[in-house]
Amino acid sequence: MRNPGYQSRWLAARDDAERVETQRSACYPPFCMAHRITLIPGDGIGPEVSAATQDVLRAAGVEIDWDVQTAGLEVARLTGTPLPIAVLASIRQHRVALKGPCGTPIGGGFKSINVTLRQTLDLYANVRPIKSLPKVDPRFDVDMVIVRENTEGLYAGLELMILPGIAQSIKLTTERCSTRIAEFAFDYAKRHGRARVTIAHKANILKVSDGLALEATRAVGKRHPEIELREMIVDATAMTMVRDPNSLGVVVTENLYGDILSDLGAGLVGGLGFVAGANIGDDCAVFEAVHGTAPDIAGKGIANPTALIASAVMMLDHIGESAAADRIGRALIRQYEERKVLTGEIGGTATTKEFSAELCRLVAGL
Ligand code: NAI
Repeated sequence: MRNPGYQSRWLAARDDAERVETQRSACYPPFCMAHRITLIPGDGIGPEVSAATQDVLRAAGVEIDWDVQTAGLEVARLTGTPLPIAVLASIRQHRVALKGPCGTPIGGGFKSINVTLRQTLDLYANVRPIKSLPKVDPRFDVDMVIVRENTEGLYAGLELMILPGIAQSIKLTTERCSTRIAEFAFDYAKRHGRARVTIAHKANILKVSDGLALEATRAVGKRHPEIELREMIVDATAMTMVRDPNSLGVVVTENLYGDILSDLGAGLVGGLGFVAGANIGDDCAVFEAVHGTAPDIAGKGIANPTALIASAVMMLDHIGESAAADRIGRALIRQYEERKVLTGEIGGTATTKEFSAELCRLVAGL
């Protein structure tokens, strides 16, 4: 049953995000060149972690003129559509978005907003750095990246009930999408100083579909001889992520495997509150945390905003604000090293706002 207080909390949190935006806009000198970026606060803890992230970007001195758009379960309930057309138009116009998590009904109901966004805007590369922050359990030494194909595989939406009691899902794999995601992974490895790309596949069983992706990746690998290509069956990749994650370098993989391996990666570096993500296409990019709406803690003001802040750091790099990205990244590391102001799920007592206020203070001091 729906929590009756939820809608007003959601509206209040959305107003909070807009208030931050309005205060920021009021500070602009009239001729200042701000980045125009779409902000989708989303559902559940989304508006809370979005407001915290806006505060931190402001503390880093980045000029952003937010175009706040609403999407998600609450919007669907209020307007009948979870992803209003204005949201897509806004992202197409500004070409960059920061997005909080959006809820998806399980089993029935509307198609996932995330999948719709990724497919409609052809955001084919989902990039998720799995990197430990200091003193965050269970592992302090992880540094690898997952590049997940975002537009096809079992998420292509080709599902049907062929007969009562018999359901079928089609895993779509094309040479075009397999090649472009492999190109992206090799290019990413080169730009970020990584020596190895590992393709995680199941071509020993799915000989046709995963076999095609593997062949396409091998062909791309031949064009990048300076980067080593390692081939690994996806179940072995899961084990290697636990035992020796850094040996994998950049893992490139299809949609479902990437989804599952990302959460495994999150588990290695402290949980879902820590992993950042970017959905990148040729025209637009949407930056979002790996975690969901966390309905169990939504509205309590205790969510950890680290993952969305780290996603915003990736966004700053993408828009050429690398100095600010670097400052926020270093301040985050310092905050975790000091362990004075942390949120509850990793043993602290701070609220979301206290966490971001401390991070703003550290950013300002760097
Ligand atoms: P979830 O990530 O929302 O929550 C799993 C657990 O992690 C919960 O105990 C939650 O409290 C905790 N958690 C997550 N983020 C946290 C944070 N920032 N700080 C502290 N604790 C945090 O996953 P769940 O419950 O499977 O999904 C809930 C909803 O979110 C579903 O409707 C799902 O479809 C949606 N979802 C949306 C995503 C997106 O928009 N990118 C991604 C994943 C799920």
